[in-house]
Amino acid sequence: MTTGDRKVQEMMLKDKVAVIYGAGGGIGSAVARAFASEGAKLFLAGRHLAFVEVVAKDIVSAGGSADAAEVDTLDEQAVDKHLQSVIDKASRIDISFNAIGIPNAKILGVPLTDLDAEQFSLPITTLATSYFLTARLAARRMVPNRAGVIMTVTAIHSREGIALVGGYGPAQAAKEALTRDLSAELAPQGIRVVGLRPNALPETRTIKDAFEPRAKASDMTWEQWQEMLASRTHTRRLMTLEEMANTAVFVASDKATAMTGTTVNLTMGRLDD
Ligand SMILES: NC(=O)c1ccc[n+]([C@@H]2O[C@H](COP(=O)([O-])OP(=O)(O)OC[C@H]3O[C@@H](n4cnc5c(N)ncnc54)[C@H](OP(=O)(O)O)[C@@H]3O)[C@@H](O)[C@H]2O)c1
Repeated sequence: MTTGDRKVQEMMLKDKVAVIYGAGGGIGSAVARAFASEGAKLFLAGRHLAFVEVVAKDIVSAGGSADAAEVDTLDEQAVDKHLQSVIDKASRIDISFNAIGIPNAKILGVPLTDLDAEQFSLPITTLATSYFLTARLAARRMVPNRAGVIMTVTAIHSREGIALVGGYGPAQAAKEALTRDLSAELAPQGIRVVGLRPNALPETRTIKDAFEPRAKASDMTWEQWQEMLASRTHTRRLMTLEEMANTAVFVASDKATAMTGTTVNLTMGRLDD
């Protein structure tokens, strides 16, 4: 489509049906807003309805399409029932994005030698199981259409040794391995599976939560903590939620049909792939 000499940009996700889990959280809500602004029809899910409803209302007030639901992604039946309701309303699922995270107050800051087994395995089992269930149940609905994109979010811990983060490293590494394995099975059936690995996002509560235990140990201020993280990037600055969400839009779109079985390195140079 053109207006005079100027090409009018098509919306990148026009009419794509997207389910986002953890949509009330920092990353989930930013991805939801970005997907909506590119024309996606959103089905937002999270553990507490109130947080998800705030995001859905914002999107609808801005002229987008968003439905909100309370869904615990560790409850297989709840995820399945929700996906069936999406199919009933929208006929298909094009994108499944799992952005769940878990509170970490009891885990971060504790040396591995002092961490009990239950606390150690909590992020591993929670994040891997949630991603497995949401991916598997979405894939079953995508396979008949021979199309779809399954996405998640990991972190630097998947590839770099970091002290005092309990089982978060193995948890993020497990999600990246699952992304590769899902892709190996699903890409031949037309479904792409791609992760995003952002660097720290100072706008989110997660990175502030991570700062607290470290600050106590090292006497750093919030500003010094951010400067320290930024100094390890090539850009010497940290990433905005908008930058991360823009990449999510591209990966979810038909512009990225060559991408599958990988996790996009958004560490701004801190990790060398
Ligand atoms: N923030 C960063 O700087 C950063 C950087 C790299 C990677 N990551 C990763 O990205 C993910 C999301 O991070 P975030 O900062 O957006 O976290 P967040 O703001 O804490 O959001 C996480 C969301 O997940 C939801 N949730 C938790 N358990 C759930 C479950 N069983 N079922 C459904 N929803 C559930 C939470 O809902 P409730 O609040 O209702 O419980 C919350 O809305 C995490 O895995 C994190 O490690 C974050």
